[in-house]
Amino acid sequence: MSARVVVLTGAGVSAESGHPTFRGPGGLWEGHRVEELATPEAWANDPALVWRFYQERRQRLALTSPNSAHELLAKFEVDLRDAGVGFSLITQNVDDLHARAGSDPIYIHGELSVLRCEVCGEKVRDLDHLDPEVFFPCPACGHKAMRPDVVWFGEMPYRVEDVFRQVGNAKVFLASGTSGVVYPAAGFLQLSRDAGAMTFVNSLDEPENLSLDDAFFAGKASEVLPELCARILKRVTG
Ligand code: OAD
Repeated sequence: MSARVVVLTGAGVSAESGHPTFRGPGGLWEGHRVEELATPEAWANDPALVWRFYQERRQRLALTSPNSAHELLAKFEVDLRDAGVGFSLITQNVDDLHARAGSDPIYIHGELSVLRCEVCGEKVRDLDHLDPEVFFPCPACGHKAMRPDVVWFGEMPYRVEDVFRQVGNAKVFLASGTSGVVYPAAGFLQLSRDAGAMTFVNSLDEPENLSLDDAFFAGKASEVLPELCARILKRVTG
């Protein structure tokens, strides 16, 4: 079954669970913008600072739960698949809230719960070692500090080819909770629109990449998505 409905989520969808967005209020951490911390250069120059930043984020995973928007998207997938409609959930979020709600998203920016060794490539799923002052050594090669398996600025997002193909084949594309400024994800809306998809966008305020051809729904994902997803379901199955 090839995907006909493709959903892209961003930080706004996890905001109601208590994960701060990147560009809204609370977007700074200890006075640093995320663009100064989420880079290979920051990790090379000050690994202790970057590790502390990510360990705080990893700690927060245990303190937060999926909200009704995550749950609704998991149910949306089940409803679509039951009706024989393909579905794909692509997320820029590195938290695990979609998965905990029952979805199996494509994490184009990686996952906070996974650590990766830059020396040997070993990956470990770990949320037990959360001390901000203690690095996590690689169990395979002994390298002293694994990094979070998240995509930093200047690095290639994961599964780009697969995702471009799915977005280019979408009949319906829905973006929720993303400001539309970070590429390549910010380009998915135009890609799907140019390929003939119906495009729907939900965010608190108009994202940068919005066009007059997109149907825009302002508001919280938890409030907007129930009716919007019901409408899309009716449209693609009716
Ligand atoms: P941003 O923080 O840039 O944007 C969040 C968007 O969510 C804004 O448009 C808000 O209006 C909207 N929003 C806030 N609360 C919402 C709610 N309850 N319901 C719906 N929308 C809401 O987050 P992203 O676009 O996801 O990348 O950021 C993209 C990337 O920039 C991130 O994945 C990260 C960051 O740098 C990397 O770390 C590589």
